[in-house]
Amino acid sequence: MSDQDSVQDVDVFKNVFKFYKSRNKIIDLSDVIDFNEVDNTRHHDKISTVNLKDNMDKVISPEDTMKPICEWEAYNVSACPGFIFIKNPFTPAGQRYWIQQCLRYYPCKPNISNLDAHVAPNSIDNMWTRSSYVDTHQNNSSKDLIDRLRWVTLGYHHNWDTKVYSESMRTEFPPNLSRLSKAVATATGHDKFEAQAAIVNFYHMHSSLSGHTDHSEIHMEEPIISFSFGQSAIFLLGGSTKAVPPVPIILRSGDVAVMAGASRSAYHAVPRILPTDNCHVADLYHDCTAADEAFGKYIASARININVRQVLPPGQKFMSSGDGSATT
Ligand code: OGA
Ligand code: MN
Repeated sequence: MSDQDSVQDVDVFKNVFKFYKSRNKIIDLSDVIDFNEVDNTRHHDKISTVNLKDNMDKVISPEDTMKPICEWEAYNVSACPGFIFIKNPFTPAGQRYWIQQCLRYYPCKPNISNLDAHVAPNSIDNMWTRSSYVDTHQNNSSKDLIDRLRWVTLGYHHNWDTKVYSESMRTEFPPNLSRLSKAVATATGHDKFEAQAAIVNFYHMHSSLSGHTDHSEIHMEEPIISFSFGQSAIFLLGGSTKAVPPVPIILRSGDVAVMAGASRSAYHAVPRILPTDNCHVADLYHDCTAADEAFGKYIASARININVRQVLPPGQKFMSSGDGSATT
């Protein structure tokens, strides 16, 4: 194989990423796996149904935000061993609850967000209080701040520069999100899962996330559990190198992606945010309280993704001195 060939191989993931990211043509979605169309014959050899463990009697529906497990629909993707897709298992009020947690509470201390570099914590605490998102006649500085929100980290805070977790950059993981993640983990057969770190991403209609693997966690045997709310996304799931052609999947509000087994360390990306193609998200806030109205307005042109990880090996409560350097 010539050098030229190997360079082309490495670029397969990037070429697919560019194809879906490109904004100067109508996007061809015919290859995208759409779990709203599971009966469509074009999907038949690509996906299969997964039987979940109905353990809700042991794991209480977290904050009462989910439908009973017997109503969840879950699928494998043949080309991506270990990956499990769960089609929106939330109630409408449940989705509103998690969207509110991500917008109103998770950006506040002790958590870390990109806004910390710009403003004092009390500005973040108060950014939703005057509902500046609804009343455009008010002072717009809160709306500006909200629009600048890009990420929040929870638990072991992701270090964007070194990608190494440390005990000195750890705060309490939100107990509600820990229960939610455990419920999903247990249903998909990972009943020892402990939520210890998360990144909450806030996407706008032109945002994207380029191809990467998540490998900062010391223990990689437990899954990454990823929740999507708001506008839809094209998610690319590849393999262990960028030479593996990624599978495009559409993720909609409420959908849960579990990256377990081989897919835990696979390349993945979000090349494109898509406007929701049905009334689903608008319906969520159709009849909502005044307090929720601002969140409804925000999410009408944004996507929130929460991805939750276990960092430590089973039973280990803290990082030991050698742990940080053990990751690359
Ligand atoms: C991440 C990630 C995927 C998504 O933050 O590491 O892969 O669906 N997010 O936004
Ligand atoms: Mn990732």
